[in-house]
Amino acid sequence: MKTILKEFIKQNLARPSIILTGVWTSRFNILLMRKLNGIQLSTLQIKVICKTIKRKTPCKLLVFGLGNDSSFWTSLNRKGITVFLEDNKEWFQKITEKSKKIKAFLVNYETQRKDWKTMLKNESLLEMTLPDDVEKEAWDVILVDAPAGWNNENPGRMKSIFLSSKLIRNSGDIFVHDCDRKVEEIYCDKFLQKGNLKLEIKAPIGFLRHYHIMNRPF
Ligand SMILES: C[S@@+](CC[C@H](N)C(=O)[O-])C[C@H]1O[C@@H](n2cnc3c(N)ncnc32)[C@H](O)[C@@H]1O
Repeated sequence: MKTILKEFIKQNLARPSIILTGVWTSRFNILLMRKLNGIQLSTLQIKVICKTIKRKTPCKLLVFGLGNDSSFWTSLNRKGITVFLEDNKEWFQKITEKSKKIKAFLVNYETQRKDWKTMLKNESLLEMTLPDDVEKEAWDVILVDAPAGWNNENPGRMKSIFLSSKLIRNSGDIFVHDCDRKVEEIYCDKFLQKGNLKLEIKAPIGFLRHYHIMNRPF
């Protein structure tokens, strides 16, 4: 009975909680939205990203990875442009079918995390052709929470971190999740640079780093 009630509450309040938090980003609303929608980023991590987006909105927001938070980012930046890149086809279909307002592209990183050392020494291996709509823009805010990088056979975030350093505009903000993992930490240090690091928010499901990029030519 308890489980049925829980499921009923989840199904009926998950979407409204995203809409409400998109307008009113209080800590309580974010906490409730996270719980109801199964979002991995912590409440404080979402709050910090929100603060930057709200300061810049309408802005150009690029997100590496679709998730249960995707329609929230689109809603928060509703007058701006929000684009997602996703490499898992089934996950892509599942999330984009749930919300038609999400603008997302399916990509293929063609990497495996185990090759991170070789790729670090050869930048040309990190290059990748992206959709025109992504490549032609200079992005105000980028969130890197994909592709998967928890084991050696996963694609790893080598390309998404490298590409974020190329796609960000001057004075732009980059957020990278899971920086408690070695590859994310090393790639962030090299391509986003320690001098640009503003903040690191620790959480049980992954540390989030916030970089404010000051050395871009555009
Ligand atoms: C690390 S999750 C984080 C999503 C979101 N930012 C959050 O905090 O909940 C993003 C990536 O994990 C993968 N992913 C997440 N959940 C998944 C699932 N249930 N099945 C398959 N892939 C999943 C997707 O490929 C996606 O690009």
